[in-house]
Amino acid sequence: MKTIDELLAEGVTGKRVFVRADLNVPLSGTTITDDGRIRAVQPTVEKLAAAGAKVIVASHLGRPKGAPDPAFSLAPAAARLGELIGADVAFATDTVGESARATVAALTDGRVAVIENLRFNPGETSKDDAERGAFADQLAELADVYVGDGFGAVHRKHASVFDLPARLPHAAGDLIATEVGVLKKLTEDVARPYAVVLGGSKVSDKLGVIDHLLERADRILIGGGMAYTFLKAQGHEVGSSLLQEDQIPAVLEYLKRAEEKGVEFVLPVDVVVSEQFPDLKTKAPTQHSTVPAHVIPAGVMGLDNGPETNKLYASKLADAVTVFWNGPMGVFEHPDYAEGTRAVAQALVDSEGFSVVGGGDSAAAVRILGFDENAFGHISTGGGASLEYLEGKTLPGLAALED
Ligand code: 3PG
Repeated sequence: MKTIDELLAEGVTGKRVFVRADLNVPLSGTTITDDGRIRAVQPTVEKLAAAGAKVIVASHLGRPKGAPDPAFSLAPAAARLGELIGADVAFATDTVGESARATVAALTDGRVAVIENLRFNPGETSKDDAERGAFADQLAELADVYVGDGFGAVHRKHASVFDLPARLPHAAGDLIATEVGVLKKLTEDVARPYAVVLGGSKVSDKLGVIDHLLERADRILIGGGMAYTFLKAQGHEVGSSLLQEDQIPAVLEYLKRAEEKGVEFVLPVDVVVSEQFPDLKTKAPTQHSTVPAHVIPAGVMGLDNGPETNKLYASKLADAVTVFWNGPMGVFEHPDYAEGTRAVAQALVDSEGFSVVGGGDSAAAVRILGFDENAFGHISTGGGASLEYLEGKTLPGLAALED
């Protein structure tokens, strides 16, 4: 993979450089609630602009249905990028149409433009190679060089991620280089003990990664909604907790393999339960109690790890030399159910090991709960992308940058 510094050494002055970023930031209306992903691509944009390139930043945001939809406009992200780099950032109101062509034509050396959400064009996400290729051809006309820096989207075989780099000289941006460097530490010659904390709602989303980690990790700690399928598989009642009955055979197989391989599988010993799911908008206080995880009464659902589990998990993380964490331990968005997630984050902060927080909800949780990002080894910008990397899959957006 060519690095951005190698690209700069070849000279980019006056060249139109297409930067595929991941500006898929959470929005409340037009207000960005977490600008982490914009800050993450800032160094690459600044380096290129400082070297005199005409920088065209492109990204998806949300999952619009292949047509313009104002709710998913990248305009707020473009404005925020301008604030961060302290310069005007032009904005094209389409992807490859008149506005994009005119905006790029008007760029002078060292200036930056953002084009509208790539997913407003059906060619971006099409499963049809020809349709994706046709969109990539149009994008290629806008630029002379391609820089891949949207780590959060490298697991997507999309036109701007996979097909476009094949059409232009290309390099990897600094964010992708950092993310891949960190993930390599979790897959090659891992420093042990290696503990993995997996949470989130669905076991089915994590099957691939558990399968892979059973060959590599020393301890796997489970929390969040997915824990109840594990508890049920062990024969416990889980009340009205989230449950994926169809995944029980797979879970049993993992528990068996873990035992055979000497991988410690750790499940909650107590959980915080309530009769109802909390209101995340009003965050109104709820009726809740703590019960042992093996006897969750009928009519209540588990919504967070309990205090004994928090102590247990902290002890399992205390001596870990490498930790990967993906997925919250409970409904952390509500204060009554945030302690499990907070306890894991605190254990990582307290640990002297190298900790990686997989993107998505766990990265958001760390920031929303007020932790200092610098207290962790690395906070990834990619949730799905980092999981698929750890599964050992070939990621289209990385493969496309290889040669
Ligand atoms: C993410 O949020 O994980 C990335 O931006 C990818 O988004 P996607 O899951 O909609 O492809």
